[in-house]
Amino acid sequence: MAGNILEYSDTSSHFNNIRTKPDQAHNNNNADTYYTKEEVAKHNTKSDLWMIINNDVYDFTLFFNLHPGGSIMLEGAGKDATYLFEDIGHSYEAVSLMSKYKIGKLSMKI
Ligand code: HEM
Repeated sequence: MAGNILEYSDTSSHFNNIRTKPDQAHNNNNADTYYTKEEVAKHNTKSDLWMIINNDVYDFTLFFNLHPGGSIMLEGAGKDATYLFEDIGHSYEAVSLMSKYKIGKLSMKI
């Protein structure tokens, strides 16, 4: 956790960190992990914070306390937050930050 905070505040090496450090929460590539909307919906608190953005599923629990925009992020908790995320006009840095929190993709099964 402390490493995460340092990593975030050290903007000069930020992009290198994204490429070289494994995801601390889910140490795998996540390419073949699918979650339903119902599963994502169970993770809707600041201590268990998942979101769907552009059909990818993210676990932002470790990012919640680092979010520059603060707890408004909870509006997207457990939901498809694509519109919320994009409506703010987040920077390229914000978009880049997301990849390390990705845990899988949205299952399209009904
Ligand atoms: C979907 C729910 C989210 C909402 C409603 C939200 C909202 C906001 C708001 C209102 C700000 C502006 C704060 C200010 O200027 O004072 C902000 C900034 C920021 N947010 Fe989010 N955010 C969300 C998700 C995320 C996610 C998932 C990430 C990255 C993992 C992220 C990364 C950032 C960053 C880096 C900034 C600083 C400005 C920038 O670089 O664009 N946010 N957010």
